[in-house]
Amino acid sequence: MPSIYVGDLWINVIDRGMGSPVLLVHGFPLDHRMWNEQIELLSTRHRVIAPDLRGFGGSFGAAGTTTMARFADDLRLVLDQLRVDEPVAFCGLSMGGYIAFEFWRRHSVRVGSLVLCDTKSAADAPEAARNRRLLADRILAAGADDLADLMLPKLLAPASINNQPQTVERIREMIVKAEAPGVAAALRGMAERADSTGILGEIHVPTLCIVGEQDAITPPDEMQEMAAKMPNATCVIIPEVGHMTPMENPHAVNDSLLAFLRL
Ligand code: MLT
Repeated sequence: MPSIYVGDLWINVIDRGMGSPVLLVHGFPLDHRMWNEQIELLSTRHRVIAPDLRGFGGSFGAAGTTTMARFADDLRLVLDQLRVDEPVAFCGLSMGGYIAFEFWRRHSVRVGSLVLCDTKSAADAPEAARNRRLLADRILAAGADDLADLMLPKLLAPASINNQPQTVERIREMIVKAEAPGVAAALRGMAERADSTGILGEIHVPTLCIVGEQDAITPPDEMQEMAAKMPNATCVIIPEVGHMTPMENPHAVNDSLLAFLRL
């Protein structure tokens, strides 16, 4: 697994397969392994690039505040170093979607199409931003040991928690691996992210929105509303799953992705 130096730390990245490039950007506080089923399938037809964002998985050394712009610029550097010149299919889940909007603002020529999974264009409301900053402070002071217990019920549908013990364990493992300063830095970055609702109308590339029917963090009606504001977007709702659609129902997500990428 290559590591790419982005000026102040090394980014771990999967680079697998040949064909038109697909960039898979994970959510918070996870790493590239949330996309294992998508990497497996898509790399038989595409060049799949799946990094661990700074502070997550094997990309250590994040501190302070990691803005969505910083994440986006890291990704551009990763693509440059891997010599991916062709516009990518940028596929981001949740925080990965917040980064997608910032990537669009800064590097839109590098985007051929977009897949937005379980995400939203709105910024945090003041109360939510305040809670994120408090959580960041608490994690820096006392560690992130209880983060998995805090997040799992929000990330997964109740049925997935009961019936998919392996998915629960995989998510727990990723959360435990994330370093506390990196988690805190991303929380602060998300708290100060811009509202991207105003740029939806200018995102003209083909866009697929995917959302779990029971997503409690970024609910389907919010994603449908977002897709309706984009000139070239469709929205698919995956039944009976929560926020982690690519892990909770990889087959349905893979079918939608393949159909979209074939267009
Ligand atoms: C994620 O899945 O990336 C997070 O739930 C995003 C967030 O906390 O807003």
